[in-house]
Amino acid sequence: AAAPLVIAIDGPAASGKGTLARRLAAHYGLRHLDTGLTYRAVAQRMLAYGLPLDNVSAAETAAGQLDLAQLDRDLLSTHVIGEAASKVAVMASVRAILVEAQRAFASALPGAVLDGRDIGTVVCPDAAVKLYATASADVRATRRLHEILDRGGAADYATILADIERRDARDMGRADSPLRPAADAHLLDTSEMDIETAFQTAKAIIDDAIAGRNGS
Ligand code: CDP
Ligand code: CDP
Repeated sequence: AAAPLVIAIDGPAASGKGTLARRLAAHYGLRHLDTGLTYRAVAQRMLAYGLPLDNVSAAETAAGQLDLAQLDRDLLSTHVIGEAASKVAVMASVRAILVEAQRAFASALPGAVLDGRDIGTVVCPDAAVKLYATASADVRATRRLHEILDRGGAADYATILADIERRDARDMGRADSPLRPAADAHLLDTSEMDIETAFQTAKAIIDDAIAGRNGS
């Protein structure tokens, strides 16, 4: 029987992993899960109810009630929710609940592309291909700034850069499932790549891995 094809993509904020994951899923005919949205959804619930972000039992309840089919990217994409998500994401028991849902998503045929922080290391350690997207903090902050300005929002570069660096440090420094490349991940530095170049580079790596998996 065919096993599901799983592609794991990790990396820090604005490294381009989400854009890459969406395009790769469309190209290979796989489903896509942005696992960051699951942490964001829990954080959004906590904020909506005015709960402290370190309230473990409330966060566990919110995580348990999560419906992957109902994740609304537009609602969850704010900067405040991203920051809150990284605080919720330090709680091991909350991670365990979300990881279980993410694994269930990954295990259905024909397979899926998952992007996040711990896909290659924890969620799908047996993924057929693992990519670790990076880009300099300067490039990532500039990308986020343009996103906000393009939507008609207001933002300044220095604040965004400081926020990105603080979130990187929290994600890389936590005890449970810190952000780091899996030993067998392919590093993809997108600092000097446009979206198309990043996609073509990733596709070449994945095609190679699939050819190896099929024994050719
Ligand atoms: O998912 P992640 O936070 O890693 O990043 P993203 O949402 O895929 O990309 C952040 C922003 O950078 C988006 O506006 C992308 O269009 C842009 N981007 C880019 O300019 N060049 C790339 N190679 C990848 C993304
Ligand atoms: O889009 P961006 O990269 O800015 O953030 P995101 O992927 O939506 O993730 C928001 C936060 O959720 C991250 O800063 C992490 O703290 C957490 N997260 C995680 O811990 N594990 C994942 N697999 C995905 C996200």
